[in-house]
Order: sequence, then C-alpha cells, then structure tokens
Amino acid sequence: MKLFIDSANIPAIKKYVDMGVIDGVTTNPTLLAKENADPADQVRKIVDMVPGPVSVEVLATEHDAMLEEAKRIAEIGKNVVVKLPMTQAGMAVLKKIAPKIKVNVTLVFSVPQALIAAKAGSSYTSPFIGRLDDVGENGMQLISDIVQVYRNYQFKSQVLVSSVRHPMHVVEAAKIGADVATVPAEVIDKMFMHPLTDAGLKRFLSDWEDLRKKYKNASPFKK
Ligand code: E4P
Repeated sequence: MKLFIDSANIPAIKKYVDMGVIDGVTTNPTLLAKENADPADQVRKIVDMVPGPVSVEVLATEHDAMLEEAKRIAEIGKNVVVKLPMTQAGMAVLKKIAPKIKVNVTLVFSVPQALIAAKAGSSYTSPFIGRLDDVGENGMQLISDIVQVYRNYQFKSQVLVSSVRHPMHVVEAAKIGADVATVPAEVIDKMFMHPLTDAGLKRFLSDWEDLRKKYKNASPFKK
C-alpha cells in the first residue's frame, strides 16, 4: 500500500519525504488555510519538493470555471493530481480532462459515488472514512465494499483512503488491500511508536552503561 501525507505543511511533508516513507501528498483548502502562506506559493513549493503525486483541489463549483481551474492546476507540475469534488459538474469535468490530467475524486461517502468516479475515469477515488465514523457509519466497511466492487470489474481507479484518524485505520485499509492511505502527520508520528521499542532501547542503553563501568571506554566499534 502506498502512503501519502495529508498536509500542506512544508516541514512535515519534507521530513517524511526525506525519510522515504511517503509516496505522495494530498492537500485541500482546509489544510492550506492552516498555513500562514500564500496558497499558490505553498502549492508550488510542495509540488516542486515532492517526487510523487500531489493532489491539489479546485475551488470552483460550476462546470466551466472548474474546467478552467483544473487545467491551470495541472500546469503547476507533472506530478500534480487535480482534486475534483464528487458532484455532477466535477464528473463532467473529469470526463473531459482524464486521462491526460490525473484526477482524484474527493468527498466520496458511498459505493455508488465511488462507482461513478471510476466510470468517469478517476485515477484516484477518495472515500473519507473518519468523517463517516464521526456520524456513526462504518468508514472501513465502505473501503472494503469499494475495493471489492473495483476488483469485480477491474476498474483502474486507485482507492485512496482519506480522513484517516489513527494507525488502525491504516492497518485495516492495508489488510483490505486499499491502494493508498493519506495520513496526517500526527498519525504518521503514531505509526512509529511502540512502548516496547522505547522500553527495549532504554534497557539496551542502561546495560551498555553497566558494561562501560566495568570495562573503561568499552566500545564494540573500536578499531
Ligand atoms: C483527503 O484528501 C482529505 O484531504 C482528507 O483526508 C480529509 O480529512 P479530514 O476529515 O481529516 O479533514
């Protein structure tokens, strides 16, 4: 499974891209609004910095304006994926620009919506699982259903698990076989953590200190 970072924060993106654990980035207007920067500059910097796909969302809601925006966004860089909302205007624009321009259909909350996004030619389809969980629905069941439907008919659209809230969302998505999960930096941080790792490291270091006391300047790395 590919891992994207769901962020518009340059230091956070750079940290994980440099570590080699992140394959791409998803942004959205809310994430850009959290940054104290001109959104156009911010998006360009992210696109230039990241070798993988970077999703950038249109703001227009009407067909013609959306088409115009989608084309302008695509010009920012070869790795840009245009995010279009799951609306009739969005799907009409998608049909016009794909496959030349890669599209991520965002705000997907049901199997019928995912089916339409794939039929219209999306490269990525983004079901928002955390937001479904928030209203008492089962976000992960939706991922499982969409993966099954896409497999049944060999749809090419990649299932991009979105609105991820905790590491178990990532684990469950990977077990189901989703193509990508886009994960906020706070959740990526949690994916590194295990108390036994911390305890194990503490013990190794204290045992090593004891050894150093016994054998002055002991080091397994001496020439
Ligand atoms: C995906 O592309 C969206 O940016 C994102 O996952 C939305 O998540 P949220 O529900 O945490 O805002």
